[in-house]
Amino acid sequence: MLVAPSILAADFLHLSRDVETVNRHADFFHLDIMDGTFVPNISFGFPVVEAIAREARKPMDVHLMIVHPENYVERFAKAGAAMISFHYEAALEESGNVIGHIRNLGVKPGIVINPDCPVEKVFPYLGAVDYVLLMSVFAGFGGQRFIEDTYGRVRALKAEIIRQGSHALIEVDGGVSPANAGKLAEAGVDIAVAGSAVFKAEDPGAAIAAIRGCTPLP
Ligand code: DX5
Ligand code: ZN
Repeated sequence: MLVAPSILAADFLHLSRDVETVNRHADFFHLDIMDGTFVPNISFGFPVVEAIAREARKPMDVHLMIVHPENYVERFAKAGAAMISFHYEAALEESGNVIGHIRNLGVKPGIVINPDCPVEKVFPYLGAVDYVLLMSVFAGFGGQRFIEDTYGRVRALKAEIIRQGSHALIEVDGGVSPANAGKLAEAGVDIAVAGSAVFKAEDPGAAIAAIRGCTPLP
């Protein structure tokens, strides 16, 4: 699997150090944007994304947990996002337009659903997105417990992706660790987001390698 460390679990007083710690091990940087309305938490915004862009040597994967995502995708694209995902629950019937808007900015679009949203809701968009992000916890906070139903949801989504001949990747976010990474990969996950399991580990590089399923870089 590819691994996207979530900056939400980094030390914000030492962001530069923490970005550097995972720079050569990570495949992407996962940045969680929370607005205090779509989710009951507020994380960080443009100045922090722009600062990380100056240090990050891997593409930035921006996960929008905000209402009216269409109003902000352009600024996140300008801030350096290579991938932007938004919640289906925040856009509903407008999801197709938001995907088109993100793609027109030259950014890879992704659609996200919370654990209580049926996976079938994203099926109409599998031909249009570059990735689907399945939340394996309810969006809003890092450090939550992984929801076991996720494996079945990944398998159902993977089967539909194959059925449609879609190229969409599957990303999973929340409570991912070396303990469940193997089973997630087996179910069909392409990109694993991990916050606590990486940044709270004694050796973040080794944690990333363990999630990826290979030995650490020398
Ligand atoms: C939760 C965020 C996640 C979070 C994951 O709303 O979308 O990206 O940072 O953190 P862990 O890996 O600690 O569950
Ligand atoms: Zn996230």
